[in-house]
Amino acid sequence: MIKFNFSGCDSFVDRTAFKEYENRASESCRILLDGTGAGSEFTGWKSLPTEITEEDFAKMEAVRDDWKAQGINLVVVIGIGGSYLGAKCALEALSHSFIPNPNAPRVVFAGNCLSEEYHAELLDLVQQSNTACVVISKSGTTTEPAVAFRLIKKHIEDTYGKAAAKDRIVAITDARKGALKTLSVNEGYRSFVVPDNVGGRYSVLTAVGLLPIVLAGFDIRAMVSGAAKELNALLNGDDSAVRYAAMRNYLYSELGKKVEILVSFNPRMQYLGEWWKQLFGESEGKEGKGIFPASLTYTTDLHSMGQYIQEGERMLFETVLCIENSRREVRICADETDLDQLNYLAGKRVEHCNEMARLGTAKAHLDGGVPQMEVHIVRIDEENLGALFFFFEFACGISAYTLGINPFNQPGVEAYKKNMFALLEKPGY
Ligand code: PA5
Repeated sequence: MIKFNFSGCDSFVDRTAFKEYENRASESCRILLDGTGAGSEFTGWKSLPTEITEEDFAKMEAVRDDWKAQGINLVVVIGIGGSYLGAKCALEALSHSFIPNPNAPRVVFAGNCLSEEYHAELLDLVQQSNTACVVISKSGTTTEPAVAFRLIKKHIEDTYGKAAAKDRIVAITDARKGALKTLSVNEGYRSFVVPDNVGGRYSVLTAVGLLPIVLAGFDIRAMVSGAAKELNALLNGDDSAVRYAAMRNYLYSELGKKVEILVSFNPRMQYLGEWWKQLFGESEGKEGKGIFPASLTYTTDLHSMGQYIQEGERMLFETVLCIENSRREVRICADETDLDQLNYLAGKRVEHCNEMARLGTAKAHLDGGVPQMEVHIVRIDEENLGALFFFFEFACGISAYTLGINPFNQPGVEAYKKNMFALLEKPGY
């Protein structure tokens, strides 16, 4: 489903030297599939698209239908990092940019920061809404979601009563252990499991991502089906993920290209960039190594970061996410006065201009010494998003192994927490 090419790297690459990277990436792919690499106990995500059952879908859809029957018009999804970015990305990509869906509750995200103003405004919102909550934490003890959940749980219990709260709160957490698991058993919350063998940043195709997505009114069956098609393609001769992993490692190790910018020409994909940054940043940024993942939205950011990309330090390469078809059609209208001199575009689609901007930018950045790769999807919908999620997860595993890194741990994330706990005078720190 995903089409990939790196012809925009041709003029930078020594094909003989690159062959070595292709061989290493192929071997990394084998290790990932065999489950013989570091962290292989966290590779359950590889088979998620084909393992999700009718029962799993039905359980998630039942929450949606139940909350619809209760007249819920606001769902607060609480989680941080891998426990929210996949769902946030899907909702940003699939929702109307301006008009709320009249057939689904509004879904907002919390527990992903410690800003007091954010929490105060969230409380303003829940007070004027018919509110339910999905709290997501694999460990059950992450500070940011725990703070937000305390506030929302209290609001729900105070407003609707303790007995009714259990029908308005769903927990997604570990199958057996952790504070959130204990709480959900004690309080009788409906709950879903984050599988032991799936880490947070690989969890979008579990209930962690799928429940908020279905609650917002989108088709999770199509999303999982897209991921399954991509999995099938990658297992049956499509070497796109291997080539992507090989080229990013070549550019990094041989040409000193230390920053990869994931670029899109559609603002809907801004949070795909955020999800992708966590995936690659947390998987590869270890042991003093790793490409720094950045993301930009063009043409917006060509008017802010375009100067740097064209002429700043030559440490960059771009991976451009190309959306082949716009789902809507808008044509530029003629104007009698033509004061803005746009009549030469009258009758043309806005997306035609966007595509010419993409091609013009590609040429300018190539001329400026920025290698480019392209990842194509046919359109932005559930099926293609599912495929994209799976493609990047698979490529990330291969790429990290090619770099000699365990993609599936995140030891560095603890450092700030220890300092914060000591400063907050948490017992034991
Ligand atoms: O990818 C990861 O493992 C992290 O981003 C976690 O998802 C994040 O720290 C949240 O952890 P938890 O779900 O345990 O609250």
